[in-house]
Amino acid sequence: MTALSRELTAIAADAFAAEGLSAAFGVVKPSDRPDLAQFQCNGAFTAAKLSRTNPRALAEKIARRLQANPVFAKVEIAGPGFINLDLTDAALAERAGVAAKDDRLGAPETGTSKTMVIDYGGPNVAKPMHVGHLRSAIIGDSLKRLFRANGWKVVGDVHLGDWGLQMGQLISEVALRSMAPIYFDEAFTGPYPDESPVTMDDLEVLYPAASAACKADPARLELARKATAELQSGRPGYMALWKHFFTVSEKGLKREYASLGVEFDLWNGEACVDPLIPPMVADLKARGFAVESEGALVIQVSEPSDKKDMPPLILLKSDGAALYGTTDLATIVDRVTALDPDFILYVVDQRQHGHFEQVFRAARKTGLAGKAELEHAGFGTMNGPDGKPFKTRAGGVMKLFDLIAMTTDEARKRLAEAGIGADYPPDEQEDIARKVGIAALKFADLSNWRLTDYIFDLDRFTKFEGKTGPYLQYAAVRIRSILRKAEEQGFPLAAPAVRSPEERALVLKILALPDAMESAEEKRAPNFLCEYVFELAQAFSRFYAEHHIMSETDTDLRAARLGLCQLTLDVLTKTLDLLGIEVPQRM
Ligand code: ARG
Repeated sequence: MTALSRELTAIAADAFAAEGLSAAFGVVKPSDRPDLAQFQCNGAFTAAKLSRTNPRALAEKIARRLQANPVFAKVEIAGPGFINLDLTDAALAERAGVAAKDDRLGAPETGTSKTMVIDYGGPNVAKPMHVGHLRSAIIGDSLKRLFRANGWKVVGDVHLGDWGLQMGQLISEVALRSMAPIYFDEAFTGPYPDESPVTMDDLEVLYPAASAACKADPARLELARKATAELQSGRPGYMALWKHFFTVSEKGLKREYASLGVEFDLWNGEACVDPLIPPMVADLKARGFAVESEGALVIQVSEPSDKKDMPPLILLKSDGAALYGTTDLATIVDRVTALDPDFILYVVDQRQHGHFEQVFRAARKTGLAGKAELEHAGFGTMNGPDGKPFKTRAGGVMKLFDLIAMTTDEARKRLAEAGIGADYPPDEQEDIARKVGIAALKFADLSNWRLTDYIFDLDRFTKFEGKTGPYLQYAAVRIRSILRKAEEQGFPLAAPAVRSPEERALVLKILALPDAMESAEEKRAPNFLCEYVFELAQAFSRFYAEHHIMSETDTDLRAARLGLCQLTLDVLTKTLDLLGIEVPQRM
């Protein structure tokens, strides 16, 4: 199935071509003024401006050609040369019928035979996850689903922070507490125990303690630095200990992400590209890109057109240590070698924008990026009611588990208040509460333009009215229940018909899914999908309020309306799935 706006664009493109103009002027999109028309084409206006002819006269010529096409019920010129278009109800119904049989629902095919990597999540081993990591996971996961639906081969990589100073802080803390002497015994030649000397719970105590001690005491910090350097130069006992930290953390992180319904294809981290650094640096030196500056080895990345200061990317500090930018550059080398991607997208806090600009420039100018386009899709902060990054009541970092527990509690309360599922088995009630809680969290996050900061307001997020995840889940479940009843009564479904304004509006919304997917991809912004799915649910509710369905006595009409219910449900669940939101079977 071709997306409707694409099909209409092709028709208009032919009309422009027939007038000897570029087909590119034929772009047709859903109208900005749905009260005036269903679709609009502004190409005649633009084309006439460019060729200094009369826009209205050109629009009339194009309009005459379009009028010859029977899909249009109305072709009208508005203002100085914009073309407004309406389809016939028969044409709309026919396309709804095609959509009902197409699993892809007309999704754009922007990614056909293209590969991309999405770098998202980005938690750090041993350090607690914070709300920035949560946002990255939620937004990144939605973008992964969207790009996949649009035909891309997508590889999602969590890119763990597992190679920085926090590892040395931990190692030195374990040493000071004599928790696992064997790893520090230089006479010991291995093999080291398979069992980790620390648990996840230990790490949660050790890291904050080490980090506080290093802040308070320069000598303690020096120990951590030294341990980091020794780890990075491959001291066997430290490597073995690091491996334990990694494995223990990875297990914990996987559980936390799973409870959020977020998965990654790769659990790579900074450490795994460490072996690529020396050859990369040697190559960059040999090709003259890496140069000495104040004792450090750097790549200059400023450009003459820069308005702001653009510091060089530091590859190696004067003590030879690699930095965050170095591992990011080596990770690009790794991804290009392994996957040869067309595109690498980083879903990371906007405050790291400068860092990525440096890394991208360095990768492009040195050719390390291969054919890959590099882009940073940043996001703002989830704040508490005080306007500062969201924390626990005690002022600590909010753990994902606790956050999910909190949203589930709130959802459970709401469901009880609304009397939803009171007679369901306890397991099912719990499952519904969890799904509703997560939907509340994800939808609230994704419905904002990603760069905008927003305030965490659980009370508002979990409401069953308004623009919320739970409202949309409930809308889907309601349709599901209509269809279940229809099945119980043996009522058949047929292709949707378009006979009333509400049916027309609903079918138009359904057929606009590909437009929403296209905008969301273009802007790397799931909020377009949130907007879309909310409008779809509203269009359904107007249809439902105005029409009999189960009580309709005309059996053809009833079957067509049930068919429209089914198609709405399919589009609703598909769009929610793109947002990472699951719909319970019943509520
Ligand atoms: N670990 C980093 C942090 O916590 C985020 C990593 C983002 N991805 C990347 N390729 N740098 O800030």
